[in-house]
Formats: sequence, structure tokens, C-alpha cells
Amino acid sequence: MQRILITSAIPYINGVKHLGNLVGSMLPADAYARFMRLRGHEVMFICATDEHGTPAELAAAAAGEPVAEFCARMYHVQKGLYDGFRLSFDHFGRSSSERNHKLTQHFAGALADAGLIYEVEQEQMWSEADGRFLPDRYIEGTCPNCGATNARGDQCETCTKQLDPTDLIDPRSVISGSTDVHPRKTKHLFMKQSALADDIRAWIDTKTDWPVLATSIARKWLDDGDGLQDRGITRDLDWGVPVKRGDEDWPGMKGKVFYVWFDAPIEYIAATAEWADANGKTEADWRRWWRKDEGAQDVRYLQFLAKDNIPFHTITFPATIMGSGEPWKMVDYLKGFNWLTYQGGKFSTSSGRGVFMDQALDILPPDYWRWWLLSNAPESADSDFTWEAFQGGVNKDLADVLGNFASRVTKFCRSKFGEVIPDGGTPGEAEAALTVEVQKRLDAYANAMEAVEMRKATAELRALWVAGNEYLQHAAPWSVFKTDPEQAAMQVRTALNLAALYANVSRPFIPDSCDTLATALNTATNAPWPDSAEEALTALPPGHTFTVPENLFRKIEDAEREGWEAQFAGA
Ligand code: 2FM
Ligand code: ZN
Repeated sequence: MQRILITSAIPYINGVKHLGNLVGSMLPADAYARFMRLRGHEVMFICATDEHGTPAELAAAAAGEPVAEFCARMYHVQKGLYDGFRLSFDHFGRSSSERNHKLTQHFAGALADAGLIYEVEQEQMWSEADGRFLPDRYIEGTCPNCGATNARGDQCETCTKQLDPTDLIDPRSVISGSTDVHPRKTKHLFMKQSALADDIRAWIDTKTDWPVLATSIARKWLDDGDGLQDRGITRDLDWGVPVKRGDEDWPGMKGKVFYVWFDAPIEYIAATAEWADANGKTEADWRRWWRKDEGAQDVRYLQFLAKDNIPFHTITFPATIMGSGEPWKMVDYLKGFNWLTYQGGKFSTSSGRGVFMDQALDILPPDYWRWWLLSNAPESADSDFTWEAFQGGVNKDLADVLGNFASRVTKFCRSKFGEVIPDGGTPGEAEAALTVEVQKRLDAYANAMEAVEMRKATAELRALWVAGNEYLQHAAPWSVFKTDPEQAAMQVRTALNLAALYANVSRPFIPDSCDTLATALNTATNAPWPDSAEEALTALPPGHTFTVPENLFRKIEDAEREGWEAQFAGA
């Protein structure tokens, strides 16, 4: 048994996420966490809301709410949706927690003690009309790189160039629209990442098993141009973690907060402490996941995130940890995802294009989405959500293959033998071949999950379901019954055991349906991973009672699909 720590990128608090966000980190992390629990490992699966920074403040302003209230409300909205998608976090925290304030200030103090923080007097954009500085997204203007007129202070969305507020041409305040903005002197803290570049490069060099997507982005940051740049870690904002050096005030930093990207990854650790607080656990209970001097040396730590987050997880957060000089656990395996597009284009919050998580759950149960998204995850390249593909995947894989198998075998058994596993007959060659096939598929599925290859894993799982249908088709107990009821009983018993196996091992992807099926078959909803196919296929003895499950999956009709396509097309 291993201990496995899993984090998925913490979603911004500012609004309800779409299906692309879901499949880009939280959902695959959940399937992986569920699989590892099923295998008997001790798992800690952590996520949280990312509540600081200008996106949070701007969204609160747009909603006409004080930012603290907005965040508290949106936290519950988001948490409700993640529960709705059955994301099995051990804890879903908040980056605005007291724990994260303390830990962020602690890291800043440790970095300062290590000589890795320095003060810079720099010019930031000041707005006369608003009487304040305008960091990051509080300012917009024309991009000096591509000329787009809606570039933000931190980045131009059109050409993706990272920007500084002072780079913008014709800048204007996002708060008041005022163009009376000009540079003004202010003091900020910088982190000497440049001094850590060699250590980070050496560490990245050990990650030979990581997806190339991740290591190549990291190397670009380390080696392009003048090499790794130092980074400002504070902002002139009210909302956030106040700048302190451990518990002490930081001279000259009153009224400033840490930059959101400094405190957000620290929340992975802080949220584990929040887990301890929420569950009556001790300090040692959470620290054994994170401190290598207190037990975490045995932990395997995996991070799930979308590709735009890779630099923060391969460079800046590792720099914070390494620079602290303290024995915090660092990531062992990083799984980065590409983008999910929507009908050939982008999801868009502003124009309502694409399916958002609340809407998805309004129209279909979570398993339908979970299955399609994970079996089409943007793993090695971007992938595209289309309603046609979605309808096809759900109808074929779930309804025609798995659902049909479960329904056929339980209904046939009920009609001929009653709702009880029938006795009689001895397994023969077909059953031996089935056992070999099932073992092979189970192993392949498990290997793909161990390797965090979601698409491959779903393909193997589907193949396992197909094997059951093929067995049933060939065995044809409905014809055999007419001449040899004993033989038919053995075939039905084998197939019912196979259904119970499906209810067990499909849980990482379709947990609700597995619960429904296991409950109907009168088996445990938390059974461990089967030791062998042979045992699994004879686990339910003659005499074991069951009921026929209600339709596990329904088909998506063409008319529905067309309606949804129109509904979510955007303005
Ligand atoms: O891109 C995002 O949605 C960020 N909120 C992810 C933060 S992950 C982290 F580092 F905490
Ligand atoms: Zn641009």
C-alpha cells in the first residue's frame, strides 16, 4: 500500500467553470484518486477555490458584492457543482483561509531569511479618478505587440503575450474607464528566482517520465532569452494575503498583499491543513503528507493541471519550496492537459458559448459527462466537444455496451430462474477464454491508470465491457436454455458475476451508475479491486439474490441533441 497525494489546479472563484475547465484538471484527478483508493492505497485528494487577485475583485464588483461575501457565496456554488459531478476531494478548501494566510507569510519569511527576497522601487500605473494603483486586470489598453485594443495589464488575450501594465498603449482604468492614468512610484518585493535556476533545471532533468509538454515549457522558461527572471510577488491591492515576514510586519509593505500566483499553490498545502481542522485531525496528520521530515518522504505526489498552469507548477512554486530551504514535498508526477474546444471554437463565458457545469448537470446525470469527457480528454493534443460525438459516445459506450449487457443478463435471469444467481452447470472452454480475456483487459486498464493515461484507460475499460457482450452473444443462454437449462444457468451466473465486476472496476469513471448496478446486484459499493479475474467471475455464489437495475443509461435522442446544440451556441 502506497500513500498518494493528488492535487488539481485550484479554480478561480470568479464564476462557474465550463466542461473544458473540468476535464483539464479536476475530473482526471478524481478518476485517478478513485482508482488508487480502489486499489487499496491511502489517498489524499486536495482542491480549493483560488480567491485572490484581480479576477476575484472584478467579478465581485460586477456582481455588486463586497469581495469577501462574493467569495464565500461562490465557494458554495462551486463546491455544490463539484459534488454534483462526484469529485471525491478529501478536502475542498479556500485560498483565503487563515491557514493559507499564515503559510504564505511563513514561506515569504523563509525566503527572505534565505536572502531570496529584495525590494524594488518601480513605477506602477496609478489612476487619479480611482485614487489607486491599477495592477494586472484593473487596466486595459492597446497591446504593444499585436495592436489589439483590449489587452489586459497582465496579458494580451489576442496574442497571449505576457504584459506589464506600463507596457500598454492608451491605457484606461477598468474600474472607472478613466484614461487619466500614469506611472507612479511604489515599492514591491521580488523573488530571486534567477538564483535558483540551476537547482530547478537539475530537478527538472530528473523528471524523465514527465510528459514532454511539461518539461519543454519549463525548459523554455529556464533557458530562453536572459534565462529565468526574478518575479514580483506583491501587489497594491486590499484583498489578498497581507504582506508579512512570518508573523512580523514587513517595513514599507503596509496595505499590500502577495500576488495571487504566490499564494495559490501554497494553498495545496494549506488546504490539507484545513482538512485536518475540519476533521478533528492533528498537525502531524496533515504534515505527514507534506513534510519529508515527518513522513512525506514515502508519499507519491501528483499534480493535475491545464497547460497554461505549467510554468507555475514547474518553476515558480518549486522555486518557493526550494528557496525556503525547508523539507516540503515537491511534485513527483505532473500531468498537464491541452484544451478542450467547443464545436470547433472556444468556450466563452461572455457570449454563453459552450456548456458550463451547472447547465451540464441540469440536462444529464454526471456519469454521462464524466465518461465522455474522460474518454475524449485533451491529453496529447487539444480535443473538441461536439454534440454529435457526445451523443455517439454516450449512446454507444454507455447505453449499447455496458447498459445493454447489464439489462439483458439480469432480465433474462429473472425470466428463467428468478432474481437469484442460478445453480448448475460447469464452466467450460468459453468461460476459460473469457477469464483470460478479462484478466488481460483488467491488467491493461490498470496499467493505463497507473501511467495516468485516461483515454487509454477508458478504451481498455470499454473493451472489458465489449468482452462481456461478445461472451453473452456467443453463449446465447436464451437458446441454450431450451435444450440445456443447466448450461444456460452457468452462463447466466458467469455473466452476472461479470456485471458485478463491471460495477466495481468502472467506478473511477461512472461512480453513480456503478452504485446503482452494485446495489441492484446486492454487492458492496466499496469492494476492493479484484485479485484475479478467475475469482471475480465466480465470486457471487448460487443463491445470491439481486434485482434488475432500473435503466442504467438512457439514449440521447437526435431532437434533444439538436435542441442543446442551439441552446448552447452562444450569442
Ligand atoms: O488557472 C487557474 O484556474 C488558476 N486558478 C490555477 C491555480 S493552480 C495553483 F497553483 F494553485
Ligand atoms: Zn497582443
